[in-house]
Amino acid sequence: MDYRRLGRTGLLVSAMGIGAGGPSRLGQRDSLRSEAESVALVLQGLDAGVNFIDTAEAYDTEEIIGKAVAQRDRGQIIISSKKRLRNKNISREQLRSGLEDSLRRLRTDYIDVYHLHGMRPEQYEYYANEIVPEMQTLQQQGLIRFIGVTEHWNDDLRHSMLQRALADELFDVIMVGFNLLNQGARDAVLRLALEKDIGVLIMFAVRRALSQPDKLKATLQALIESGELDAGDIDLEHPLAFLLEDGAAFSIPDAAYRFCLAEAGAHVILSGTGNPAHLEANLRSFAAPPMPAEHVARLKQIFGRAWSVTGQ
Ligand SMILES: NC(=O)c1ccc[n+]([C@@H]2O[C@H](COP(=O)([O-])OP(=O)(O)OC[C@H]3O[C@@H](n4cnc5c(N)ncnc54)[C@H](OP(=O)(O)O)[C@@H]3O)[C@@H](O)[C@H]2O)c1
Repeated sequence: MDYRRLGRTGLLVSAMGIGAGGPSRLGQRDSLRSEAESVALVLQGLDAGVNFIDTAEAYDTEEIIGKAVAQRDRGQIIISSKKRLRNKNISREQLRSGLEDSLRRLRTDYIDVYHLHGMRPEQYEYYANEIVPEMQTLQQQGLIRFIGVTEHWNDDLRHSMLQRALADELFDVIMVGFNLLNQGARDAVLRLALEKDIGVLIMFAVRRALSQPDKLKATLQALIESGELDAGDIDLEHPLAFLLEDGAAFSIPDAAYRFCLAEAGAHVILSGTGNPAHLEANLRSFAAPPMPAEHVARLKQIFGRAWSVTGQ
C-alpha cells in the first residue's frame, strides 16, 4: 500500500480509502450483508494496510465503522465523516448535535476529517459564512481535526462549488468526483488543490459504469451521441478492451482504480464495496505497479472532451 501526505493536514494516509457509502454501503444498502459481515469487511481492509475510512451521517454505516475501529488502534486510523445538508440550511446547533451523534455512533471522541456533505453551489455562501466558523470552533475544541467539504457531482458537473471552496481556502480537505470517463476535475480542481496544498479525496473512481458492463456501454453510447466521444475510438462490443491486453490490468475496475491512483493531486482514492472478494481484488489493484503510461495517455486522449457523465 502506498501512503501519501494528505495536503496541508500532514496526515499520512493510505492511497486506498474504504468508502462506506456509494451504491454498496459496505453491503448494507440492500441488506446484502449482516452487520457482522460489514464489520469484518472493514477489518479486512484495515488489516491489509488501509488507514483511511470515509463514512457519513447519511450512510447508516457509522456504527459499523465504530465497531470495527474499536477492535483496532484508533490512533492509527483516519476517520472521515460528514454532516448531511438538507434542502433547508442547517443551523450551528444542528451541526454540533449532528457531530455529537456521529461521535457516539463511531465510538470515538474526535473525527479526523469532518465534512459538509454534498454541498451544491447555491448553498456555498451560507455555509461558508455561517457554518464554517462553527466548524472552526469545534476544531479548536478538539472534536474535529480538519475541516472538509464534498461536492454533489451529479448536479454540479463542472465542479463549481469546489472552485469557490478552493479560492477561499476555508477547507483543509475536499472530496471530488473523478474517473477515467470524466476527467474534468483535473483542470477544474486538482491543479489548484495541488498548488494550495489541499487534501484531496477522490470519489466515483469506479461507481456503476466502470463495474457493470451494461452501464459502461450505455454511458459510452451517451457520450458518442452527445459528441463528447469519437465513435472510432471505442469498440462498443468490447469497450476499453485495450486496457486488459497483455495482462496490463486484470479487470475494468482494476484499470479504473489504477487510473485514479496515477493522477497528480489525488491523495486518497475511495473504494466502496460490500463484497469481500471485490475488496481483495481492489487491494491488489492498489498494490499493483502503475498503469502503463501509454494507457494513461490513451484514456486522456479518448475521454479528453467528456464532461456530462459521472459514471453513476
Ligand atoms: N458527495 C459525497 O460525499 C459522496 C458521494 C458518493 C460517494 N462518496 C464516498 O465515496 C466512496 C466511494 O464512492 P463509490 O461508491 O462511487 O465507490 P466506487 O469504488 O467508485 O464504486 C463502488 C461500486 O463499484 C462496485 N465495485 C467495487 N469494486 C469492485 C470490483 N472489484 N469488481 C466489481 N465491482 C466492484 C461496488 O459494488 P460491490 O459492492 O458489488 O463490490 C459498488 O457498486 C463512497 O463509499 C463514499 O464514502 C461520497
